[in-house]
Amino acid sequence: MHPKPDSVLPSAQQVDDCCRDVIRTGFGRIAIPLAALEQFERISGEFAALDGDVKQSYSFAEDTDGFLPFASEYARSPDRPDQCERFCYWHAHRARRAGHPFHTSAFVRAMAEYELAIHGVAQAVLDAICAAFGAAALGSVRAHSYLQFCAYANADGAPRTFAQDPHEDGHLLSLVKPGGDGLALVHGARELSPVRLLDTEVAVLAGSLLSTLSDQAIAAAYHAVLLTPRARERRSLMYFVNPDTRRPALSFHRREPLDLQGLMQARHRGFGNRALSLG
Ligand SMILES: [Fe+2]
Repeated sequence: MHPKPDSVLPSAQQVDDCCRDVIRTGFGRIAIPLAALEQFERISGEFAALDGDVKQSYSFAEDTDGFLPFASEYARSPDRPDQCERFCYWHAHRARRAGHPFHTSAFVRAMAEYELAIHGVAQAVLDAICAAFGAAALGSVRAHSYLQFCAYANADGAPRTFAQDPHEDGHLLSLVKPGGDGLALVHGARELSPVRLLDTEVAVLAGSLLSTLSDQAIAAAYHAVLLTPRARERRSLMYFVNPDTRRPALSFHRREPLDLQGLMQARHRGFGNRALSLG
């Protein structure tokens, strides 16, 4: 599978604007390439046609990869799992999955195309954030970053306010392409503000890994997914941006060495996922 390269990236001004907002508030927005928008529509359409057998056969929970069952992750508490099923795509694992017949499906190809387009956007924003602090660039994020597609529902029909409870993602950044209403920023204990985006934009949320890296200068963006009446139709696609944790990292101000892999693993497992084997 060889996705076509897509060199259409946001302008320097768009990157700077997003970088400034993330540094100031933990939240920004940025336009994504047309190729990524097209693939998001394709992913949502292809997902609707998939059957349970395919999902079971292309499931690699030990790597948080492939199809992961409904309610297999939680934002805060295991007794209130997220009301969605998931599909995760790792650029790093593509060679290991190459022998599986589903790996060449239109669905996986669309995920690969989206990843190809979005990782460059994420890299540009992250590099700009490092530069704004006078810190060395972290290098390519592609090795330990991944996509997560979520298909929401309210399977048991239980009354809940949130399809996903308030939380922060625990990565450096999350680039979120929502396919419907429901994403809200959480301020303090109770205040919620719905995230409004242009159709061509993704939300850019800072995570606690970036807070640690910046010596707490950048606040993690707490957010939730409201369980709206249209939750059954909601689809979203996140690019979770992590550093290549094989490389040593120093915090921006204090220049302290950081165990980014340990922090990443702890947050990942805190959502109910298995520890990642990060080669
Ligand atoms: Fe999240």
